[in-house]
Amino acid sequence: PVLILDFGSQLTQNIARRVREMEIYSEILPASAPLAEIRRRQPLALILSGGPSSVYEPGAPALDPALLDLGLPVLGICYGMQILAHVAGGKVERAKVREYGVQPFTPAKDVSPLWDLFRPNSPVLMSHGDNIITPPPGFTVAGHTETTPVAAMENRKKGLYGVQFHPEVTQTVAGVDFLRHFLRDICGIKKNWTLKGYLDRHVEEIRARVGTDHLICALSGGIDSTVTALLCHRALGERFHAFFVDNGLLRKNELPEMERDLSSLGIPLEIIDARDLFLDRLKGVADPEKKRKTIGRTFIDVFVREARRRGTYRYLAQGTLYPDVIESVSSFGGPSAVIKSHHNVGGLPKRMPFELVEPLRELFKDEVRRLGRELGLSDRFVSRQPFPGPGLAIRILGSVTPERLHILREADAIVREEVENSPLRSELWQYFAVLLPVKSVGVMGDARTYENVAAIRAVCSVDGMTADVHYLDPGLLGRISHRIIATVPGINRVVFDISPKPPSTIEWE
Ligand code: XMP
Repeated sequence: PVLILDFGSQLTQNIARRVREMEIYSEILPASAPLAEIRRRQPLALILSGGPSSVYEPGAPALDPALLDLGLPVLGICYGMQILAHVAGGKVERAKVREYGVQPFTPAKDVSPLWDLFRPNSPVLMSHGDNIITPPPGFTVAGHTETTPVAAMENRKKGLYGVQFHPEVTQTVAGVDFLRHFLRDICGIKKNWTLKGYLDRHVEEIRARVGTDHLICALSGGIDSTVTALLCHRALGERFHAFFVDNGLLRKNELPEMERDLSSLGIPLEIIDARDLFLDRLKGVADPEKKRKTIGRTFIDVFVREARRRGTYRYLAQGTLYPDVIESVSSFGGPSAVIKSHHNVGGLPKRMPFELVEPLRELFKDEVRRLGRELGLSDRFVSRQPFPGPGLAIRILGSVTPERLHILREADAIVREEVENSPLRSELWQYFAVLLPVKSVGVMGDARTYENVAAIRAVCSVDGMTADVHYLDPGLLGRISHRIIATVPGINRVVFDISPKPPSTIEWE
């Protein structure tokens, strides 16, 4: 692989994805990975990521100098370049002016062809508070910006390169071409990775591992568990069993649609009706965290009980993705605060009576979507909006009752239908209704009403970590509001949520 050493940048995963988009396999290891571990992976090249530290600070993540003597090409990005300079004998200091945002970069004269892609004043994304004052011996300055004299450097003989800017983001317009040029032309790496190859390899692996045993999987209806199921089914046929725990917190028509989609792909789905149990345990539970935990625990109880009832299964398939697997070093300051306890079907506890099969554990989300298409999922399925594991329960503020579920389900169906019939669908990350725990006064016909309020949420996002409000077209909003109030008994007022994430979150609980 191309190995990316993670020094704690939020953008490390972007680097890995950019490389894979070139059909070159990449993996991420923490910067602290021992030399032996790095060599064991037989990397074709090293990329050193950015990171929040300063190389001269005590405790800053270090780079083993021996890595520079392996004869491997190395590209340092941002902190990665500074640590490269630091270790190779250059000088790094706090900059007089912090450089942030898109800046014009100009390559130096008489440097290697790697820099040819950049015309004078090419836009690049900068984000740093330290500067390289003196490049290490054997290195030449390869480019500058107005405030950063050493914005790029190279040691052609040893194949060591560094850029202060971030080539892995779209704001650096020539960034992807630069990475491709580096990997293909400078490092001589050929295309070595396709999803089709990945699929074949994992189908074989599952067959070899599971042998004549049986494999079970809990589907959530989401893309990850569905693609996992398709892959496992391809490997094992009838020895693969897919369960779906119906928790009664699904959206309108969701279950029949899912059954239809899966059966058209030849996967029989066994539905476990646990609606009453979930509702019973949720009775009177209004606290969001308590709701989430109750739902998570109930799911596990039901799943383990039902699996046991059906025999002794040794293997359980889960839709774990690469971002969950990477030993994250994005928080050198320790684990980040728990904002919400996420419940995924993929988030079953470690101590379960099964051995795990995780065929997607090397993939990013967009790769899972592409693999889903390869396995026959429709575009409609693959591009559906994300839906949280705890379902409608976290969109009913206050306690969940069958009546409130019914009200929200109907209102939400209208939001979905209206958005999906508009050209907006592909622009939005999520769009849904939330049922608020307040009542307000209205007038219908000649009568006073005193009923519930529904809020509409519509956001754009890349990965759910941050989100922007999408201000829906007033015509569309008007139609949604009118239809909900006119046809959903129990709602007499509709409001629109205009809060971005952060400081708000996407879901209300
Ligand atoms: P928040 O509300 O934290 O949501 O801004 C970010 C994204 O995650 C989804 N979400 C969940 N997904 N289990 C899931 O599988 C959960 O418990 C859960 N909670 C939130 C949310 O829909 C949004 O896309």
